[in-house]
Amino acid sequence: MIRCGGTVQVYNNRCPHQGRRLDYAPDRFLTKDGTLVCAAHGAVFGMADGECLQGPCRGESLTAYGCQWQDGVLRIEWPEPLA
Ligand code: FES
Repeated sequence: MIRCGGTVQVYNNRCPHQGRRLDYAPDRFLTKDGTLVCAAHGAVFGMADGECLQGPCRGESLTAYGCQWQDGVLRIEWPEPLA
């Protein structure tokens, strides 16, 4: 989950390059100037839309999930039940 301006974006923590985790340690992410950087090979993603702006998977995007606030709780629309 990323807070971006006044909105929230939810992305799968997998890089479209090689499917590796984006964080360098559990729940620790590299961010800079509205971007999220994959810790593995440095792909740079826009936080607002998840598009890769620079790096080995340029033009691809993070997998985004729909979400909405309901009674102070963020409800995430998972595409399928978690195993
Ligand atoms: S796995 Fe993210 S840039 Fe390679």
